Amino acid sequence: MQIIKNYVEKNRQRFLDELFELLRFPSVSADPKYKGDVLKTADFVAEKLKEAGADKVEVCSTEGYPIVYGEKIIDTSLPTVLVYGHYDVQPPDPIELWHTPPFEPTVRDGKIYARGACDDKGQFYMHVKAFELMMRTDTLPCNIKFMIEGEEEVGSDNLGKFVANNKERLKADVVLISDTSMISMENPSLETGLRGLAYMEVEVQGPSRDLHSGVYGGAVGNPATILCQMIASLHDENNHITIPGFYDGVIELSAEERKALNDAPFDLTEYKQDLSVDEVWGEKGYSTIERTGIRPTLEVNGIWGGYTGPGAKTVLPAVANAKISMRLVPGQDWKKISELFKNHFESIAPKSVKVKVIAHHGGTPYVTPTDSVAFQAAYKAIEEAFGKQPVPTRGGGSIPIVALFEQELGIKTVLMGFGLDSDNLHSPNEKYDIFNYFKGIETIPLFHKHYAELSK
Ligand code: BES
Ligand code: MN
Ligand code: MN
Repeated sequence: MQIIKNYVEKNRQRFLDELFELLRFPSVSADPKYKGDVLKTADFVAEKLKEAGADKVEVCSTEGYPIVYGEKIIDTSLPTVLVYGHYDVQPPDPIELWHTPPFEPTVRDGKIYARGACDDKGQFYMHVKAFELMMRTDTLPCNIKFMIEGEEEVGSDNLGKFVANNKERLKADVVLISDTSMISMENPSLETGLRGLAYMEVEVQGPSRDLHSGVYGGAVGNPATILCQMIASLHDENNHITIPGFYDGVIELSAEERKALNDAPFDLTEYKQDLSVDEVWGEKGYSTIERTGIRPTLEVNGIWGGYTGPGAKTVLPAVANAKISMRLVPGQDWKKISELFKNHFESIAPKSVKVKVIAHHGGTPYVTPTDSVAFQAAYKAIEEAFGKQPVPTRGGGSIPIVALFEQELGIKTVLMGFGLDSDNLHSPNEKYDIFNYFKGIETIPLFHKHYAELSK
């Protein structure tokens, strides 16, 4: 521990400067206008892996954005940890709500504000720096491989193929990912689950052209109104989802498992205050922790149609659209859920409109084992670094590729994230606490140490 602390102390400013440099690249994978910047980010990551001491560093091209690979094999009889992360970020929009520019990292109150600060640049870069630390202090206790991708925020379309084609190169005993949250720095936790995802887009078409809402209104179905009615009908009075078959196969937790989840420190008043809501919302019969952790949900991500410009225009729009996603839990299959959604949505459309439903990407839910050597190693590492035992929790977010690692490579994942749910991921003013960044850099070498020892 002292070796770790000394090295971090000596290199503190440089560790921050390098992260800032990484955060200045606007590596937005969703928007083609950033293409050049995304590619430059991959090169930067490769360069930093090399500098830290990785061998066989390669920027592997795919049909989309490249995957950066690097490794250090010290002894083939030792276990191998595969570190996964992503260098792409979400679009910064709505940009006018940022207090400082999203790609000019700024420190306020001990926190780094920038797009990607937490998701996932600040988090995967901790692994690069922890690796450098282990290399320079001659304390790397196991083999390590890095796979940092550039398409996580758009569904990791090309990673599956890369994994399938590189099984030998990616061979490892465990996948280690820092791309999730902790309850708080005072209450360290370890996520044991990720939800799956099914992402849909719908279009409701009424008349063949926009109409005068006085001349035709009341006599022709308004697609915007009808879309709202259709969407509203997807939840019943208990906020249960009404799509037939939606809950089929959902794995229910035992009373003890639910109790353990609800025992995690959680302050509902603080939660509401942070979000400026007077009351929470959700499926009847479940707590807030359960609603995000173990229950499937359906959300409207965006809805549009008709006139949204300044002033008032009287019009009956021809079309209305929405992007709708569902978070899934173990027992649900995203392809099947996408199909159930499509069939149901088409079936509830009144004859006055035509409905089109398309499926975007999806992802399989994942639950990590808690009795594995790797989980125990993460547990011990956090306990040692934070001076407190971590609480196991179920995360609400999705990292679809995690289920694929298990399917293609046969390896389980440990989710050792250091973000906070309140770090504004995907929102304006994303941030990452400098404290968390360095705590992560200290904890990671301990994970490798315990993992190597417990694997003996
Ligand atoms: N890092 C997040 C996922 C996450 C955040 C998991 C917080 C647990 C806690 C990841 O980058 C992400 O945003 N995933 C997307 C899915 C993807 C297919 C776009 C998500 O969860 O919406
Ligand atoms: Mn992420
Ligand atoms: Mn994300």
